[in-house]
Amino acid sequence: MSPSGDPNTPAGKGAVERSGSAAAANRGAGREELLTASADPIEAAEETTLRPRSLEEFVGQPRLKEHLEILLGAARQRHQAVDHLLFAGPPGLGKTSLAGIVASEMQVALRVTSGPALERAGDLAAILTNLDDGDVLFIDEIHRLPRAVEEVLYPAMEDFQLDIVIGKGPSARSLRLDLPRFTLVGATTRTGLITGPLRDRFGFVARLDYYDPADLVAIIDRAARILGVPLAREGAEEMARRARGTPRIANRLLKRVRDYAEVRADGTVTATVARDALVLFEVDERGLDKLDRAILAVLCRANGRPIGLTTLAVSVGEEPETVEDVYEPYLLKEGLIERTPRGRRATVAAYTHLGISAPPEGPEMPLFG
Ligand SMILES: Nc1ncnc2c1ncn2[C@@H]1O[C@H](COP(=O)(O)OP(=O)(O)OP(=O)(O)O)[C@@H](O)[C@H]1O
Ligand SMILES: [Mg+2]
Repeated sequence: MSPSGDPNTPAGKGAVERSGSAAAANRGAGREELLTASADPIEAAEETTLRPRSLEEFVGQPRLKEHLEILLGAARQRHQAVDHLLFAGPPGLGKTSLAGIVASEMQVALRVTSGPALERAGDLAAILTNLDDGDVLFIDEIHRLPRAVEEVLYPAMEDFQLDIVIGKGPSARSLRLDLPRFTLVGATTRTGLITGPLRDRFGFVARLDYYDPADLVAIIDRAARILGVPLAREGAEEMARRARGTPRIANRLLKRVRDYAEVRADGTVTATVARDALVLFEVDERGLDKLDRAILAVLCRANGRPIGLTTLAVSVGEEPETVEDVYEPYLLKEGLIERTPRGRRATVAAYTHLGISAPPEGPEMPLFG
């Protein structure tokens, strides 16, 4: 077995690529880059330094960590490969980090590829036949695997067998190859798009949740130590509150606030420095930026009437898919909007947040806020 790889390092040629496709990086390109949960390729490369390397370094998600500890510990005791794992959840919550952690905790090699990079069945076959016993194969954005490739994966996951067809026409022969006992780790931001047969073949499906402010403080603290940034606890709390429950955003806010602290103050990130910097960057006290507020404003103007996704997206100048994947999850989680069968609607909390008075409560108005 070879030493553990790194999720950011290409593990081979061809379809094996750095995680995070251009498409993913482009999602939300219109938003203030500071609060985008996805990473562009440059940031993805930089993230290596801050990525937790072991379960111990991985902050938060206690239940998930405990599950993984048991799974990995049992596999180690039995000298077997870990069961196939699926990590699901919004961007920037630690899916790629966890794939790397599984490989390093098991002291096996990590191979990295992604759904869109595997265009043909042969691309996947080439990767599978090059694995060693116990290796971790990480497929990012696994919901974007082409159907034909996904079908190759079924027998590979279940029986560690690869069916290949040699030749064409009447002389074509089908051949069955044995594969090493590998562990497939899949990551997806869209669980709804994973087909039933694929999901059923994972031994463990873990959903990552948004992090609470205390965990984000710990993540910012850890990053500050690694980056050598002098940080006051209240400074970390200011950033944690605005990080939208997302470690990637927390780390990014820290880097930008550090720049501000170095230029406008003595380099230490105090509460005041953090607050002033975030006001300058137009990140409000709930971690919303201009586009989030624009979405809320459109919905509030509708006076309790639901607005369709397409209309909403056009009103703020974004793609519907971007609004749905990038902006909505956090607004929903914060209880600022709600989804109804007829569209999206602002809650009382949204009116309060924008400092405007809510329309009188009718049957159309949600009561919470
Ligand atoms: N639990 C955690 N503890 C400490 N840092 C974390 C944690 N989760 C994520 N991070 C930090 O956030 C960054 C982004 O995490 P990661 O790349 O693993 O997210 P992801 O879920 O794979 O995102 P994407 O869906 O965009 O691929 C990492 O570089 C890491 O520094
Ligand atoms: Mg990732």
